[in-house]
Parts: sequence; structure tokens; C-alpha cells
Amino acid sequence: MAVSSTAVPNGSECEEPSRRDFLYIATGAVGAVGAAGIAVPLIAQLQPDAAVVAAGAPIDVDISGVAPGQQILVKWRGHPIFIVNRPPEALKVLQEQSLVSKLSDPDSKALQQPQYAANWHRSAKPEFLVLVGVCTHLGCIPSFQPNRGEVDASWPGGYFCPCHGSKYDLAGRVYSGVPAPYNLPVPPYTFTDAKTIRIGENPAGATFDLADIVQL
Ligand code: FES
Repeated sequence: MAVSSTAVPNGSECEEPSRRDFLYIATGAVGAVGAAGIAVPLIAQLQPDAAVVAAGAPIDVDISGVAPGQQILVKWRGHPIFIVNRPPEALKVLQEQSLVSKLSDPDSKALQQPQYAANWHRSAKPEFLVLVGVCTHLGCIPSFQPNRGEVDASWPGGYFCPCHGSKYDLAGRVYSGVPAPYNLPVPPYTFTDAKTIRIGENPAGATFDLADIVQL
């Protein structure tokens, strides 16, 4: 897989996948987990066209085909955006004390999300997670590891950043004792109907700008 590399302050390198690589990563993940019949990442169409997206306009994402346990990935303002349909069992795990006790900011006190996602599930609707897929350490793209035991024996499912080993749960909450200092960012978004998420626009009455967060 061809990747571009960006020098980072500590002298290591952080791989920066291109859109082509996003496709490759997601396709690879399908093969990796598809045999188990569990979470299968997909690619959603970018909407509207690329020029409008590049200008920073909101994008509408059709989530009607995202089955429980699946992740799709879109690009907004140059950022990878993860959208996950979390099944009830995954939501239950997020509330288990054995997980919560390992997290650095379980209550989302740091400004890494809009107010409507400052809750235990870090989302506007519990089942749908929407995150900016950029590690808060040095900006790598964490990998979707939704299944128990995928990263280590006690792994309950979440995101793993292979660059320096940071771990996040399936709400994007960062573990304590890893290089990443903050939870994964949540972008502004709203549901325009039951099947469509608009990335880049807040619900009526809410004000949130991704530029206001502590760290992207
Ligand atoms: S970029 Fe260093 S752990 Fe993610």
C-alpha cells in the first residue's frame, strides 16, 4: 500500500493514508473480520461532489445500509470521519465499570465534542457514533477493532492506533496511560432524517465549531 509519510516532532513518522488508502484499509478490514461474520467496514459515497467537499461544505451521508456492528468512512474537510452503528451489546460495554475505570476522560470533560455528544455514548443518538478519525497523539488514523480480544486479551472493542499504541473505546474515549492525551474528536453533525447524517452542521439551536476543540 502506498502511503505518504509526514515527519512528526518526536522524530518518528506518522503514516498519512490517502483516500486511495482509506479504500484499501476498509477493504482489507472486510477480509479480516468478514470471515467471523461480525463488523464489516464499508465505504460511503462522498456527497456532494469533491469540489464542494473540499470547500468545507456539509456532506450528507446515507446510513441506511450500515448494519449493526459496521463502520463506514467518509472524508470531510480533509479529515477521515468514522460512522459506526453500535449494537446494543457494544453500548452496554461502554457503561461497564471495568472499561470506564481504564479511561482518561470517561465523562468527556475536555472539549473534544459538541455538547450534544458530551454523554456516555458521545453521540447524538446512542447507536450511531460519529468521530473524526485522527489520533490525538500525533495524527495517525486509528484502526477499527470492534471485536473482543482483537488487540489484547482484555480488549472490549474500540480503536487502536498502531503508530504508538494508543487505545480508544467504541465511543472514542482514550485509555489512561497511552500516548494520546484526549478523546477522539466528534465533528458537528445532525440527522436530517432517520437515514441521513449531515456532517458539518449542528442540530437546530446548537453551536459548535470543530476549530474550538482542544486538540485535533
Ligand atoms: S499517533 Fe501516536 S499513538 Fe496515535
